[in-house]
Formats: sequence, C-alpha cells, structure tokens
Amino acid sequence: MLTDLGQWHIFKIVLGDDQVTDAEKGQNLGGFSRRDFLQLGSVGTLSTMYACYPQESLIGEGSIQAVISPPQSVDDHSWKDIRESFILDKGSVYMNNASLGLPPLEVVQAVTRGYRAISKDPIAGKTMLQEIITQRVKPQLSRIFNVENSQIVLTRNASEGLYLQSLGLRLHPGDEVLITTQEHPAGYRPWRVREDRDGIRVSEVFIPSPFTSKDDVINRIRNSIKTETKAVSFCHVTRGGHLYPVKELVELAQEYGLFSLVDGAQAVGQFPIDLADIGCDAYSASLHKWMLGPIGTGFLFVSQSGRSAIQTSFSADATTEAPAYAPPGTVSLPVYAALETALDILTSIGLHRIEDRCRFLSDYLKESLKKLGGVQVLSASSTKLSCPGSTIFEARGIDAVNFVSVMAQEHRIHVDEHQRDGHNAIRISTHIYNTQEEIDRLVEALKQEMKKA
Ligand SMILES: Cc1ncc(COP(=O)(O)O)c(C=O)c1O
Repeated sequence: MLTDLGQWHIFKIVLGDDQVTDAEKGQNLGGFSRRDFLQLGSVGTLSTMYACYPQESLIGEGSIQAVISPPQSVDDHSWKDIRESFILDKGSVYMNNASLGLPPLEVVQAVTRGYRAISKDPIAGKTMLQEIITQRVKPQLSRIFNVENSQIVLTRNASEGLYLQSLGLRLHPGDEVLITTQEHPAGYRPWRVREDRDGIRVSEVFIPSPFTSKDDVINRIRNSIKTETKAVSFCHVTRGGHLYPVKELVELAQEYGLFSLVDGAQAVGQFPIDLADIGCDAYSASLHKWMLGPIGTGFLFVSQSGRSAIQTSFSADATTEAPAYAPPGTVSLPVYAALETALDILTSIGLHRIEDRCRFLSDYLKESLKKLGGVQVLSASSTKLSCPGSTIFEARGIDAVNFVSVMAQEHRIHVDEHQRDGHNAIRISTHIYNTQEEIDRLVEALKQEMKKA
C-alpha cells in the first residue's frame, strides 16, 4: 500500500512471505532492505510495519513501526516475544510502571530516528515530525479514547493537563470544588492555587483505602455536595491502584449540574477507556506510564461541554470553538512523534489483552503474598475496585521506604512505596513484560527481608 501524504510517502508492508517477495521485487522501500526492516522489528513477532519518509533528502529518517502479533493467552510463554522488545538491563526486575513505564525498543528507535531527521535537515525534519503528530498520533489517540481529534491536545505529562483543566475552570469566589483524599499532588495542588488566587473553596472528601464498595465512594461524594459546589475533581485510578467508579461519579456530577474533571494518569494503558461514554468535562493523562510512550508525553481532553467552562490562558483569540489548550512553543517533536509507534504497538496488541495480562500477573502476586503470611494486601481482588496492574500491601516489620532501596540495591528489583492514605505500604506495578518468575523472585526477596526484620 502506498499513500501520498503531502511530500511524504507512507508504506504499509505486510511481512507475510508472499508480500515480502513482492515488496522486494517490485516496490521502492525507500532505501531499506528487507534485512533493515527485520532488524528494526522485534524478532519473531513482527508482522506488519510502516515506513514514512520524505521523497528526497530524509529517506530512511522518518517513522517505521513494528506492529506486533497479539498473544493468544495471558501466560508468560505467550508474551515472551513482546517481552524481548523491552531493553531493561538483564538481571533487573522492574515493577514500578505506575511511576514511569518502559517504552519498547521500537519506540526508543523512533525517538532516535526523529532526532536524526531533525538534525540532518531541521526544517524538513520538523515538517515531517509535525505531520506524523497531526496526521497519525493525534487521530490514533482520539480513536483509542473515542473522542474527536479536536478535543485532544498533547502535553508533556498528566500534571500539565491537570493544571490546565483546574486553573482554567470558570469559578467565582466562594464556589466550591470537591476533591478526594486520594488525589496525587498534581490533582490537588492546582486547586490550592485557585484557593489563593481566586478565593474558591476546595473540600476534600475522605475516601477510605481500601474502598469498601463503589456505592460507599459514590455516597461519600454525594453527601458532600452543597449549593456552593460547582465541580468534582478526582482520579480514575488512584496512585495506590484503587479504581474509582468514574462513570457513576460523572453521572452524579451531571445530576447536580457540576463539572467533572478527571485525572487519568494511572488508568490509561491498563484497560480500554471510552471517554465519550464516561462523559466527563475534562480528562488528563500520562502516556509514559502504562501506554508504552516515551518519557515526557501526555494529553488533555476537553469535551464539547467542557469547552465553554474551561478557559485557556494561551490565546487572546481563543474561542469556544477553537479553545487553544495546547501549551504553546517548541516541543520535543521526536518524542511526541514516537508516540505513533507506541500507539501502534498498543493497539495491535489490544488494550483488552493488556488488561487481561496485567490482571493475570497481579492476581498471581496477590495469591503469592497471601500465602506468605504476615502480609496484608490492601488492593481489592474485585475487578470493579482495583486496577489491573498496581498492587499495594503492608508487610510485618517492613518500613516501605527503606524496603524500596534495599530491594533495588540488594536484589535489583525496582518497586515503590505507598506511604499515603494512612499506610506503610509497598506498591508493585507490573506490566505486560513482567513474569511470574519475577514475581516469585520478589516474594522470595520479601520473605528474606521479613525474616531479617
Ligand atoms: C494519580 C496520578 N496523577 C497524576 C500523576 C502525575 O503524572 P505525571 O508525572 O505524568 O505528570 C501521577 C504520577 O504518578 C499519578 O499517580
């Protein structure tokens, strides 16, 4: 398939034997041999790839992606080839995806290709990367979350989006915003700015950890709504991995005529999310945690209804139709453009398969921890109350902060602590490339540390 995209050509090459032969015989591969393509892909799993390059000077410097064949089962064996796309140091175990995820090698290569292109020919390279972002990254992101292309802007992270949505919401002195006690600092700090700057009131609704039920969460928020309340702002998945009933909370907000602003940093990439169905006014997320994107990527979504409520600080000409939410100025184009590869990989695997794989691993972890004794798992086993990938627990005699460094230094296992919500908890966030064997290694190391304690 050959598509003309302005001065760029996009090839989609399916590497079944017949097509490869045809491609080798008859098509212009833009200077790439079949071997080059295979080397760029992940061994054994690569089935389809695209090449996008300018017609002349930058041939070979554009975007090329591997699209991965989806695994047919949740077990480690089925995910072995995908695991090989991640270049973590051999011998290290990484279970801190909720802080910062790992991009696959193909994404790392896409960033490098973008930098090469822009360094070789800055103007043509810039144009190429901008086209990849507008013609491929944003439309794909919009498709994944079922929103309009014009409703999404790219940001450097979730925090940037959260500040933009909170600082922009039209509020008057005395108006109240409800947040919950389980917000990340990026979920409550912008509201503190609004308190100081605009005289609004921010009230925290206490939500116990772990949750007792969805209804308990909803009722606690419902019972806190007053006549001054104008908005509710909460995370879809908490830092500790508890899953808020996001759709029901948005419906509750709508019932009372309140704006609903959501922090999706820990949710996106772990399971399918339909923002049109959720119906919130704004939603911000990171793409460098669970979405396999390169570091420094995120997005802000503002719905049609949110547009009139959320002002932008960036343009005097902004209108409700063209709100100009994107932070202005030069951005890291190679990093944003490399999202194309991350999103292609993510969609070719399928978010439902990622959810099942993450759930399989965290279920195995929870079972193993329960067998150990002296451990209190704080994450619900119900899929309605916990996200697929993050698990928190307390272990007898273990200080969580100290445990993080002991595990890194003595066992080469990277985890995080969750000393919030009244816990002295350890957080384990496992993604598709972790294995049961790694979980066994973690549990064995924990056992040793508990014995020492
Ligand atoms: C719930 C939640 N919100 C927001 C953030 C901030 O994300 P970012 O670093 O991408 O801004 C985090 C980061 O861990 C988080 O856990």
